[in-house]
Amino acid sequence: MSKTTISVIKADVGSFPGHSRTHPKLLEKAARLLKEQKGLLLIDSFVTHCGDDLELIMTHTQGVDNGEIHKLAWDVFTECTVIAKSMKLYGAGQDILADAFSGNIKGLGPGVAEIEFEERGSDPVLIFMADKAELGAWNFFLYKIFADPFNTPGLVIDPTMHQGFIFEVHDLCDKRRIMFTSPEEVYDLLAYIGAPSRYVIKHVFRRDGEIAASTSTQRLNLMAGRYVGKDDPVMIVRSQSGLPAVGEVLEPFCTPVLVAGWMRGSHQGPFMPVGVCDANCTRFDGPPRVTCLGFQLCNGELIGPADMFDDPAFDRVRNRCNELADIIRAQGPFEPHRLSLDEMECTTLPAGENELKKRWGPIP
Ligand code: F6R
Ligand code: MG
Ligand code: MG
Repeated sequence: MSKTTISVIKADVGSFPGHSRTHPKLLEKAARLLKEQKGLLLIDSFVTHCGDDLELIMTHTQGVDNGEIHKLAWDVFTECTVIAKSMKLYGAGQDILADAFSGNIKGLGPGVAEIEFEERGSDPVLIFMADKAELGAWNFFLYKIFADPFNTPGLVIDPTMHQGFIFEVHDLCDKRRIMFTSPEEVYDLLAYIGAPSRYVIKHVFRRDGEIAASTSTQRLNLMAGRYVGKDDPVMIVRSQSGLPAVGEVLEPFCTPVLVAGWMRGSHQGPFMPVGVCDANCTRFDGPPRVTCLGFQLCNGELIGPADMFDDPAFDRVRNRCNELADIIRAQGPFEPHRLSLDEMECTTLPAGENELKKRWGPIP
């Protein structure tokens, strides 16, 4: 039986008003272009948005890092850019950093999370999408899902999960990677992933090698060589039957967690889980949002979606996120609401500082 690949590829190619939400015309265009490929390059597709990010969810049998799939996504983003420019949407074409496609969409602006596996008898998949958040925003949640028995009782109770999981961690600065096994090496794992601005979990595997999760790790500022905003990552998590249950995957999102991003990609803010109808950034260009669409796979067909955070069970965390937003916003331009100085290097602050350089003198 051939393997199924899920590719989630996203880009901000223009929004309205400002950086708040994607325009329906872009969503329609993207959905139509992908549907034209049904039965050809793709088995199935679904198009959605989180804030100002256009999200392409595609299934196929071409494997990860496939040039034709990446080119299809690139063509969708460039065609949507044409529409965004014709309407003078804000930031039209923002994440399209190259003039032409060159074999692989990674490094050209868009974010990519992909996963390839042999479908089980029944395969539930959860797709998470973020706006106004940094790449490492998933670290806390992936740790809780796959390594914390207080979150995931399956680690204790289910013999097929009892051996634990393997975390592949990437160092975004030195471009290197390392594998940690849990539970044996969780302290080493935490030493790194507790610094999500630099170390991000790329993949999670079960101990028998079965892939369980994959995230996007493309860093826009490094690719563009200038401030473009935070990367607004996506994540794919497989679930059930020897992997964490759907409810174990969703449970960590009941904790209000601060992530870097929000206004001007320069502030810590609460990561608020919302239904797709609420995935529009407003207050202080946020707060940072996360959505989750759930699907069953059926020979590559996407059965769904179910809008997982569109549920009163998440009302309380949303309220707590709003309270946290009030508390941290009161600090205005002071750290730790504003990001630390080394993280501000990737924002527009250093440009303003240049002006003041000549006015600094030695302390007498
Ligand atoms: C953050 C974000 C927004 C913008 C802000 C300023 O990722 O997208 O908060 O940084 O609206 O945008 P510009 O500089 O385009 O006016
Ligand atoms: Mg934008
Ligand atoms: Mg965005």
